[in-house]
Amino acid sequence: MQKLTITRPDDWHLHLRDGAALKAVLPHSARQFARAIIMPNLKPPIRSVADAAAYRDRILAALPVGQAFEPLMTLYLTDNTSPAEIAAAKASKFIKAVKYYPAGATTNSDSGVTDIRKCDRVFAAMEQEGIPLLLHGEVTDAEVDVFDREKVFIEKHLIPLVSRFPKLRVVLEHITTLDAVQFVLNANRNIAATITPQHLLFSRNALFKGGLRPHYYCLPILKREQHRLALLQAATSGNPKFFLGTDSAPHTRNTKESDCGCAGCYSALHAMALYAEAFESVDALNHLEAFASFYGPDFYRLPRNTETITLVKKTWRIPHEVSFLDVGLVPLKAGEEIPWQMI
Ligand code: DOR
Ligand code: ZN
Repeated sequence: MQKLTITRPDDWHLHLRDGAALKAVLPHSARQFARAIIMPNLKPPIRSVADAAAYRDRILAALPVGQAFEPLMTLYLTDNTSPAEIAAAKASKFIKAVKYYPAGATTNSDSGVTDIRKCDRVFAAMEQEGIPLLLHGEVTDAEVDVFDREKVFIEKHLIPLVSRFPKLRVVLEHITTLDAVQFVLNANRNIAATITPQHLLFSRNALFKGGLRPHYYCLPILKREQHRLALLQAATSGNPKFFLGTDSAPHTRNTKESDCGCAGCYSALHAMALYAEAFESVDALNHLEAFASFYGPDFYRLPRNTETITLVKKTWRIPHEVSFLDVGLVPLKAGEEIPWQMI
């Protein structure tokens, strides 16, 4: 296949940041995606409907003139989120989900939840209102190996959570393991998962290829090849429980290339080309449209998009850096050639 026209996709997990960073990265996402679920891990986080309304306005104001793009807002769950805020979120219409970060798990997660059971009243309200819970599914216990944090979260927290709240709609975000795939496959139909391009294209070997590679460091961290293959199988299987979420997470070059480098891969520039490369690798380009454009809106109970985008098979070289906050941003696969591009 040399050319692929599909319904315009949406990104069901995206970090846009704020201010000048937002202005720099937003055009990349808006060029490919009609809508995106916007992560609330700003400093300070988006904790209230009022915070989300103001952030949404800043995103819309940062769009290039004439560019259509709908930010689907989320609230950042804390130990103190109230059931009343959930009712207000539902009434707002523009808040589509609530994001759970375990305190200390990743970038700007200090205000995250210290004990998931503290949120049971909020989960009950979300179950009632039909608002999806988006999980950063990792434990933060220092004694748990970093490569096991997703698996332990599923066993220790997620299985009990879904049995306490069987009607709660849950997205296990950016899944990275065979364990997560199996959990989602066996769970009830309220449970879905997003998958990033980096977890479809790379195993943890990419972190150490010829040296230490900070631009391949994200959380949850890349895993063994057997896990990558399980994710690729899930994404390309045509199962509506698995859909696209890039987790594109911009950090300046210097904060990645540091003695304590930040977690996050930047894929917004070329996400659809990366997903096409991954799907083609297992001869499954025919399943790309549903993964990218159908299953997400179906899960979120939103209409599918009606416009289309076109990808062509034409090799191009990803820039070494894109302009970002005076110091630059290194995209995923920087400096390498990839086979697909969006026209
Ligand atoms: O790699 C990541 N980067 N994982 C996250 O959970 C957060 C994200 C970010 O905000 O940079
Ligand atoms: Zn994320």
